[in-house]
Amino acid sequence: MIDIHNHILPAVDDGAKDLDISRDMLRVAASQGVEHIVLTPHLYEPDIIKGTGEWKNRILTAYEDLRQLVEREQINVQLTQAAEVRFQGMLEVILEELPVLLGGKYLLLEFSFSNVPLHVENAIYELFRKGITPILAHPERIKPWQREPERLAELINMGCLSQLDIGSFLGRLGPSAEAFAHSLLEAGAVQLVGSDSHNLNSRPLFAKEGYLWLTEHYGSEIADLYLKENPARILAGDYVEVYPVDLTPPKKGLLEKIVSVFK
Ligand SMILES: [Fe+2]
Repeated sequence: MIDIHNHILPAVDDGAKDLDISRDMLRVAASQGVEHIVLTPHLYEPDIIKGTGEWKNRILTAYEDLRQLVEREQINVQLTQAAEVRFQGMLEVILEELPVLLGGKYLLLEFSFSNVPLHVENAIYELFRKGITPILAHPERIKPWQREPERLAELINMGCLSQLDIGSFLGRLGPSAEAFAHSLLEAGAVQLVGSDSHNLNSRPLFAKEGYLWLTEHYGSEIADLYLKENPARILAGDYVEVYPVDLTPPKKGLLEKIVSVFK
């Protein structure tokens, strides 16, 4: 398997605190059948806006430390450097300064959990125009899309990929993320799943559990597509198929409308 989204890179964000924890996380990944780890630390605007370049050096140094550790300790995983980039004004700077694109064109893009700007389609269109295909990180956890899934559908129908967190459909990230993850899977509005693992305890990897869950509910072809084939296509810069989706919620009856007012 390939894990396309995680925070295993040491001491750069709210993920692995140090190299020892990164090592243990990599060993867990290898033991669950993950052969390739795409390292995707958060990149937030305040770190970058200082203009010191410190954010960039921290990530490059951590990557080099981890690469050497994997070699030294012969852990059986391949590493690729990327990032989970917050949708923000500094996107241009990040794209210029760090190798964050996968396969030369895919960008793991994260939105705020509570606020997605209206008319975000214009900015997404600009990315496509530059040859960049956004991968929407865990859309099932974004509250505005939980409330108005048709806004998410619009981005998927523009060609954005959508990546679910394994913990969401396993029910480890709260009931609203779980319910929305299930409806996105049901609607075929998913191209990838990733661990989004942050540590060994509260946000562990679940890759094997996720693979088995998908196999049980949707068959091994879908499990392979989301955890092996599509991630491999992304790393190679190949085309990933995105089907049009309709996520418009069914119209509420009068009684439901009245009940929802009092909720
Ligand atoms: Fe993440």
